[in-house]
Amino acid sequence: MLIVHSPDALSADSDAHRVAGRRVALVPTMGALHAGHLALVDEARRHAEVVIVSIFVNPLQFNRSNDFDAYPRPLDADIDMCRAHGVEVVYAPTAADMYPAGFQTHVQPGPLADVLEGEHRPGHFRGVTTVVAKLFGAARPHVAVFGEKDFQQLAIVRRMVADLDMGIEVVGMSTVREPDGLAISSRNRRLTPEQRAAAVCVPASLAAVREHLAGGERDAQRLIAAGRAVVDAEPLARYEHLELIDPDTLAPVAAIDRPARAVTAVWFGEVRLIDNCPLVP
Ligand code: PAJ
Repeated sequence: MLIVHSPDALSADSDAHRVAGRRVALVPTMGALHAGHLALVDEARRHAEVVIVSIFVNPLQFNRSNDFDAYPRPLDADIDMCRAHGVEVVYAPTAADMYPAGFQTHVQPGPLADVLEGEHRPGHFRGVTTVVAKLFGAARPHVAVFGEKDFQQLAIVRRMVADLDMGIEVVGMSTVREPDGLAISSRNRRLTPEQRAAAVCVPASLAAVREHLAGGERDAQRLIAAGRAVVDAEPLARYEHLELIDPDTLAPVAAIDRPARAVTAVWFGEVRLIDNCPLVP
């Protein structure tokens, strides 16, 4: 397994694979790898001979500097996991490699980035699109794999690739969950045992929406109320939002008469968890 730090070294390696006719896949991550990331790696393998995993905690996408400082960086363990999963290349640039003195160009996403997570974290998605464009530029992949766990991020990246003619196939991977249904996330480690037990109310509230939909309810407000009630019944949980949205435009829908998405954010103390699921009428 090759470990590279500079964009030039990554491009040179990737170009050699392309010239040799090999398909190249990129899995962008911020490290602290878990089973969700590894599912993306396995999915990437189904699309390409060469799998690149990038590990970079991107300062541009953090609103609060203490969040950035507190982000876990177990690089050696991450590299071991990549090796165990047959990854060909780990790209682990430093902030100075990514943003050298004089850096000034950003990718500005459109209205898709203003709603939901963008409302809660101003500038976040501009940081994401900028770093993902840079990762694409350095890795030059044929295909890139992203998790549906971050559903809005996936939509914005798809839009960027189309809008900027990047010619990269974007593959979405369904969310990997703990046995009790909680979506795997590096943030789960910050929950106390009591909060961790309570957090099952997040997937349970999405399940409630789906159950009411299956029972014939189509009205968005009544479906949301059914999901919210599950979170409100949990004393350790603080409801932030639950919305039913169009999967392409991310705009709220009034009724489920075609495929939609339920997206939610719930707080446990200082930890904010997000989750989402598909809704099919
Ligand atoms: P990070 O949070 O490390 O996530 C990297 C990728 O793993 C994302 O595509 C995310 O959706 C996916 N992922 C996380 N948890 C998952 C789960 N439980 N199941 C399936 N996929 C999961 O997202 C980022 O990093 C950054 O914003 C990045 C795209 C790397 C740009 O900095």
